[in-house]
Amino acid sequence: MSLLREANGPTTVIRREDYAAPAYWIDTVELSFDLDPAKTRVLNKMRLRRNTDVAAQALRLDGEELNLARVLVNGAGCSFKMEGHQLVLENLPEGDAPFDLEIFTTCEPDKNTQLMGLYVSQGTFFTQCEAEGFRRITYFLDRPDVMASYTVTLRADKKRYPVLLSNGNLVEEGVLPDGRHFAKWVDPHKKPCYLFALVAGQLVAREQRIVARNGNEHLLQVYVRPGDMDKTEHAMNSLIASVVWDEARFGLPLDLERFMIVATADFNMGAMENKGLNIFNTKYVLANSATATDTDFANIESVVGHEYFHNWTGNRITCRDWFQLSLKEGLTVFRDQEFSMDLCAEASARAVKRIEDVRVLRTAQFPEDAGPMAHPVRPDSYVEINNFYTVTIYEKGAEVVRMMQTLVGRAGFAAGMKLYFARHDGQAVTCDDFAQAMADANPQSDLARLLPQFKRWYSQAGTPHLHAEGVFDAATRSYTLTLTQRCDPSPAQPAKQPFVIPVALGLLDANGTELPLQLAHWGQPEAGTRTFVLTEASESFTFVNVDSEPVPSILRGFSAPVVLEVDYTDAQLLGLLAFDTDAFNRWEAGQRLALRLALNAIRTQGPVPNAPLDAAYLAAMRAVLRHPALDAAFKELVLTLPSESYIAEQLDVVDPQRIHAVREAMREQLAHGLHDDWVWAYEAHKDNGAYSPDPLGTGRRALAGMALTMLCLAARSNGNPVWPGKAYQRFKDAGNMTDRFNALSALVVSGQPLAPDALNRFHSMFRSEALVIDKWFALQAGAPDRSGNVLPAVRQLLVHPDFNLRNPNRARSVIFSYCSANPGGFHRADAAGYVFWSERVIELDGFNPQVAARLARALDRWKKLAEPYRSAAREAIARVAAKPDLSNDVREVVTRSLAD
Ligand code: BES
Ligand code: ZN
Repeated sequence: MSLLREANGPTTVIRREDYAAPAYWIDTVELSFDLDPAKTRVLNKMRLRRNTDVAAQALRLDGEELNLARVLVNGAGCSFKMEGHQLVLENLPEGDAPFDLEIFTTCEPDKNTQLMGLYVSQGTFFTQCEAEGFRRITYFLDRPDVMASYTVTLRADKKRYPVLLSNGNLVEEGVLPDGRHFAKWVDPHKKPCYLFALVAGQLVAREQRIVARNGNEHLLQVYVRPGDMDKTEHAMNSLIASVVWDEARFGLPLDLERFMIVATADFNMGAMENKGLNIFNTKYVLANSATATDTDFANIESVVGHEYFHNWTGNRITCRDWFQLSLKEGLTVFRDQEFSMDLCAEASARAVKRIEDVRVLRTAQFPEDAGPMAHPVRPDSYVEINNFYTVTIYEKGAEVVRMMQTLVGRAGFAAGMKLYFARHDGQAVTCDDFAQAMADANPQSDLARLLPQFKRWYSQAGTPHLHAEGVFDAATRSYTLTLTQRCDPSPAQPAKQPFVIPVALGLLDANGTELPLQLAHWGQPEAGTRTFVLTEASESFTFVNVDSEPVPSILRGFSAPVVLEVDYTDAQLLGLLAFDTDAFNRWEAGQRLALRLALNAIRTQGPVPNAPLDAAYLAAMRAVLRHPALDAAFKELVLTLPSESYIAEQLDVVDPQRIHAVREAMREQLAHGLHDDWVWAYEAHKDNGAYSPDPLGTGRRALAGMALTMLCLAARSNGNPVWPGKAYQRFKDAGNMTDRFNALSALVVSGQPLAPDALNRFHSMFRSEALVIDKWFALQAGAPDRSGNVLPAVRQLLVHPDFNLRNPNRARSVIFSYCSANPGGFHRADAAGYVFWSERVIELDGFNPQVAARLARALDRWKKLAEPYRSAAREAIARVAAKPDLSNDVREVVTRSLAD
């Protein structure tokens, strides 16, 4: 890491162990903005005092890309100097008395291409301050442990910017000379500066008044551009549901008179939880049945929930420093996952949600945990904090919180949350504080007993592997299950200590019936699942009164974020798939069967077998597909083969083209082998009646869509035009975007001759709907590769008149869909995919380092690649790294990637 260099000197590595409390506190901030896209004037009046707990020292305020005009201390001019990006004030009044500091700066919002700080999107002003964007608005102690009270006055041209919003309550508004007007906002809650926000522009709002349990009235608003009002109902419903849920499940009410969500088309991330003024990517707000898919509707519900839940977990209690990011993000992801599950009426829909969440964890976080960017849930160091908004902080962090809930129970978890708020409301705290509150609220729990060891989940990177071995002894009618854990080294962590691993377990007999569990020297037989808490490197459990060799169902509900290694026979997996009472493990058994077949075909020498699947697998899939009692959504998950990237993670040496070819062969075999079943599935699920994005309808549409794709795939090799014709008809007639897009996708994915025409029509139908055009781009950039056809198509898309690299959603829809989500198209033997990648990383880095650094991670796992991919990938990364004026963001990623 010491090799990291920046144009203006060595890059600083920030270390958790170096944390020091701030030398000053900022109690109040009065901000006045004269908003002008070319030159916005910012007057910042702060009241500060020394932090008497630390030695007297200079005040160092962060600031970036600001023009400094004036600094006054207690109303008088004072000396200051600049050191790097800091404004340093050395001669401040001595003693503990508060003093006033006034700073006047200007900035240029319309030149802000990074979309951090104050910027303009489609003529409207927006801010994004997390993590360190506030310093691009004014000089400040830009760190989360400095919490202040904000008063904000916005002034702007009334015609161009009729709506002026900031955090908290509107206390005054009025007109000014020269066609300008103003609005004054006061936030009743103290907050760290990363939660500051302002919005100014031409917007309209859907409004809803609600009355909370305690009788308080609140105004909820969803602000969008005038043409988008008809796409705000679902976001508003999601917000109302979020308010109700947090109060019902955790006793956490809305603490504001007014809660606003504003949508912008230009946003680096998904959404941001600014206090009382959440700013969202349009992708996570705008939806109606004509333009949004079921997935969009579900994402909106969970993202609206997520940002709303931050109001308590993140905003009322915030992070002491950015190493504690998972304190708010892991916990809030856990909360949004629980929210989405609790909104499901059926247990099966909850299981579907759990499977989807685990799929994200395993396909994105496990690779991160095994690659060059691996880091603990609470990292020890970073160069650029933006690079640490990762799936490890988020999804693994959420799994750690989930394990706590498993260890203390649902009621115990709610009690822990209560204690956490009783102790820390209004503070900036650490992950330790959260875990301590959970343990202290549950003194009899395994969590309290094992707390120091449990916290290794925060400090040790890497995914533990859990090996399970069962021995049945007919003579003693006993079954001994031995569970052994190990965790491979990670960067800077050569050796790991054992983790606390809650293992939810059940045993099935040969007929698939659940056995009561009775341990050898201990307790009564208990029916159903029991959770065993592992703490040692290896532990054995002996069950008695077992008549025949059982099949263990281990890690039910995915009770810990580990890789479970079990040498199941095919027959055992088929049994679990057919009979396990745990829906997660039922799905998992199907995935294991498919994975085994895929790995066999990949490892076989010679040409790719054209029929990698066996009869037993096909029969099992047919049984699931035709099953009278299973949910359509669950069937769709079982019938989806493990992704190419998940398969790749199981291999030491990865040939992406072979994986792609094998998986495509498997899909084709599924398409042909179950042809009549797909016909049945399509006919039985295609009609949903009126559109509603509920789990039942969503599941039916997903399965019908899958069936249509399979039928078009089958048609591709037998040349039969019937199903492509039906897909085209469906594409034209569909009553909602889910069905329409699924039909379009079926044609594109199966490479049908009708696909180009359908794509053209789709584009004309939705040319003015940016989010739909994003889908149009993404579908083409993510299409299965056939003899290298995707890259030339992607290069064409880049010169399409609708393409715009500066808009993050559009950039993602083409470039990320190709580089990060299309391994078969991206990993080319001629290295052209990697060349394309390096060009785009460098190009993006010129104006938006945050987005560039995310793209830079597409080649994280290059070391696992087989030749010639490996050398070509390293060369491409080296080409990026050789660029002298890279951002810190991209430099950190490529440097770590190339490190040994
Ligand atoms: N606090 C983040 C937004 C954020 C992310 C700010 C990165 C600065 C840098 C927000 O709460 C968040 O986590 N958003 C997610 C979506 C969420 C549902 C997981 C996002 O933007 O991807
Ligand atoms: Zn978040």
